[in-house]
Amino acid sequence: MSELFDLDGRVAVVTGGGRGIGRAIAVELANAGAAVVPSARSTDEIEAVAADIEDAGGDALAVPADVTDPDAVRNVIDRAADEFGGVDIVVNNAGFNPDDALGRPEDVETESLDRVLDVNLNGAYEVTHAAADHLLESDGGSVINVASVGGLVGLPRQHPYVASKHGLVGLTKSMSLDWAPEVRVNAVAPGYVSTELTEELEGNEQLRQSIVDRTPLDRFADPEEIAGPVVFLASDAASYVTGSVLAADGGWTAR
Ligand SMILES: NC(=O)c1ccc[n+]([C@@H]2O[C@H](COP(=O)([O-])OP(=O)(O)OC[C@H]3O[C@@H](n4cnc5c(N)ncnc54)[C@H](OP(=O)(O)O)[C@@H]3O)[C@@H](O)[C@H]2O)c1
Repeated sequence: MSELFDLDGRVAVVTGGGRGIGRAIAVELANAGAAVVPSARSTDEIEAVAADIEDAGGDALAVPADVTDPDAVRNVIDRAADEFGGVDIVVNNAGFNPDDALGRPEDVETESLDRVLDVNLNGAYEVTHAAADHLLESDGGSVINVASVGGLVGLPRQHPYVASKHGLVGLTKSMSLDWAPEVRVNAVAPGYVSTELTEELEGNEQLRQSIVDRTPLDRFADPEEIAGPVVFLASDAASYVTGSVLAADGGWTAR
C-alpha cells in the first residue's frame, strides 16, 4: 500500500512553500520521496524549508518568485527542470486575503478585487501554464490547486477571496478535461487552518469559537492535515481521481 503513495523520482513545485500550509505540503511531499522546489517571495523562508528537507535527507531547491510575475514564474519552472530533470507535480498554494479586500461589496475597491484575483487565480494559472510541457511529458503529471471552502460556498465580507477560490475550482475542473488522460488536475478545499493567514481571526476569541462551533471536528486544522490530502492527490493512490475537489474542512461544508 505504501508504494501507492511513493513519490520517489517525481519533482514537485510548491508555490507559497515558505510557511503555513505550503511549508507543510513541501515537507510532506519530500517525505514521500519527491524532490521539492518551494517558491514564494520571501527567500529566507523558502531557503529554510529547503534546508530542512535536505537535512532530513531529501532533495530541494528554493527558487523565489512572485506568482504574478511571469518571468519569475518561468524561472522557477526552468530551474526545477534543470536541477531535477523535469516537473511532475505543481501545487498552486500561494494565496492571500488582505484586509482591503474584506467587507461589503460597496466598500471594497475594484483594485482590491483585482489584486486578489491576480495572486490567487491568475498566479495559479501562470505557474501551471509555465509547467505545461513538463507536466504533459511526465508519466505522473499532477496539478493540485489549494482552494478553500470559500471555493465551494459563499462567505460574507470576503467576496474577492471567494471569487478567486471559486475561479480556482473552475480552473481545476476545466483543465482536468483538457489534460486528461495525461495530467490529473485536482483541488483541495481547506477549512480553517492555523497559519499566519488566520492568526488575527484565531486571536479574536468570539470569532474563533463561532468557527469551532460550526466545525463538526471541533477545531482548526494544523497545516500538516492539509498536506496529507495533497500527497494523496499527487500520488498513484489517486490515479483515477481528476477534476475533483477534496474538502479538508473538518466537516464544515457537510453542514
Ligand atoms: N489558513 C487557512 O485557514 C486557509 C483556509 C483555506 C485555504 N487556504 C489557502 O491556503 C493557501 C496557503 O495559506 P496559508 O494559510 O498557509 O497562508 P500563509 O501562511 O499566509 O502563507 C501564504 C504563502 O503564500 C505565499 N505568497 C503570498 N503571496 C504570494 C505571491 N504573490 N507570490 C508568491 N507567493 C506568495 C507567501 O509567501 P510570501 O509572502 O513570502 O510570498 C506564503 O509562503 C492559500 O492559498 C490560502 O488561500 C488557507
